[in-house]
Amino acid sequence: MKFLVINGVNLNLTGKREKRVYGVETLEEINAKIASFCRANGDEVSFYQSNIEGELVNKLHEAFENKSVDGILLNAGAFTHYSYALRDAVAAIDIPVVEVHMSNVHAREEFRSRSVLSEVCCGVVCGFGAGSYLAAMTGLCAALKK
Ligand code: DQA
Repeated sequence: MKFLVINGVNLNLTGKREKRVYGVETLEEINAKIASFCRANGDEVSFYQSNIEGELVNKLHEAFENKSVDGILLNAGAFTHYSYALRDAVAAIDIPVVEVHMSNVHAREEFRSRSVLSEVCCGVVCGFGAGSYLAAMTGLCAALKK
């Protein structure tokens, strides 16, 4: 199977910003772990990051129009909490999307408890640091392969 991992706003600074919250691994290091996890399962994975909301929407549309992937992990960063455009894009595509957060968004500021994406995602994983991506990929694979 083919997977796409999308990271949104500020996630390019992972490993460099708010290390106490998001850990010290860079996005490249996290992506390398996801890639080796997928390789070990015989799956393919590609990665995309943008700080620009419309580019994230375009990437979701592209995956849909090209029928290029079987499932998507999406850490939209702060867009999670207010982007109706991203929500509509997730709802528009018939590809399962898992919402991912490294931090436990429910144990932080109140505004982070609200996600406009969860309702249109097939699952949500948060709170396990970089491990959230691997847990989400495990869940997505299990859901798709059953
Ligand atoms: C985040 C949580 C969001 O609230 C925050 O804006 C981020 C990262 C996470 O991975 O924990 O940028 O999505």
